Amino acid sequence: MSAIVSLTDVSVRFGPSRAVDGVSVDVKPGEVLALVGESGSGKTTLIRAIQGLQSVTSGQITHTPASGDRPTGSDRSRGNRGVQMIFQDPTGALNPRQTIYEIVAEGLRIRKESKDEAARVARALSRAGLRPPERFFPMYPHQISGGQRQRVVIAGAMVMEPDLLLADEPVASLDASIRGEILALMLDLVGETGLSILVVTHDLGLAWNIADRVAVMYLGRIVELGPTERILGSPKHPYTRALLSVVPETTRMEQQILTGEIPDSRRIPVGCRFHPRCPLFQSGTLPDEVASRCITEDPDQLDSSATWSVACWAVAADGEPEDGSVGA
Ligand SMILES: Nc1ncnc2c1ncn2[C@@H]1O[C@H](COP(=O)(O)OP(=O)(O)OP(=O)(O)O)[C@@H](O)[C@H]1O
Ligand SMILES: [Mg+2]
Repeated sequence: MSAIVSLTDVSVRFGPSRAVDGVSVDVKPGEVLALVGESGSGKTTLIRAIQGLQSVTSGQITHTPASGDRPTGSDRSRGNRGVQMIFQDPTGALNPRQTIYEIVAEGLRIRKESKDEAARVARALSRAGLRPPERFFPMYPHQISGGQRQRVVIAGAMVMEPDLLLADEPVASLDASIRGEILALMLDLVGETGLSILVVTHDLGLAWNIADRVAVMYLGRIVELGPTERILGSPKHPYTRALLSVVPETTRMEQQILTGEIPDSRRIPVGCRFHPRCPLFQSGTLPDEVASRCITEDPDQLDSSATWSVACWAVAADGEPEDGSVGA
């Protein structure tokens, strides 16, 4: 099955900052892929690049619409109807002076698709769980709850009938009590329309609940990628292990507090970019041959076609994971 969107060695630089530094990953039809990693790892920059809001410095992003239309290549400046983005804060994303109808219809109007507008707006609202939709048409954002506002944002994306939804921390600004229902809605949309979702989250519990696969990003690079139950159940990369060890539900693992902040993307360490903070490297227990690679050689890109892929010299030295690939 071909990917909805395929990234090959994508980099985004802001002057000396390497915000995204050689990412290769595919999003498959109908899958939920979670992108996790600390603040500053390049997650938002990466999804903005996929949306076409951010130009890439090098590499290739190819979107192949699920409908079988012609693939679109590197010219993404016009944006792409098949890819829609929803942001973290629904209140900031909604114009307080527009009605819910106008907000949801906006994408159609920008694209001059006035045919069946009211029916399409109604369908999108109802798909987002705002029923009966007509009741919401004349309302303004301040007249509805935070959870409903996020549903309006989702309706505004769904009205375009996307095949890929990019969601940047979609529930982080919501009350804990309504997070679950918004996540359930996103899963329903996948089930009903077959769309794919790339969701950025700090919350590994959220990834566990909704994602088919997880991509772990560190300093602009995906360092581990694979099925959720494997990445979160038996992580290989020392960075993933450290991220997971501080999640309360997974305290079967020994806690590993990472020392130091994530380095500045203007100064990505040579060798393995994680080695200055890597508990395994810092422990001094790695064989010399492995340790010297950690400080001199960048583990290659992950093999984005493998089931499970890890970019770590120590894991590589330890042997490949079953039916996986070590990007080294
Ligand atoms: N417009 C910009 N100009 C300069 N540097 C930028 C710009 N946008 C992002 N960066 C830098 O790129 C790096 C990645 O930022 P990005 O916002 O993509 O990270 P993130 O993973 O989304 O973080 P968070 O979890 O905090 O949202 C950071 O070092 C950031 O300072
Ligand atoms: Mg971000």
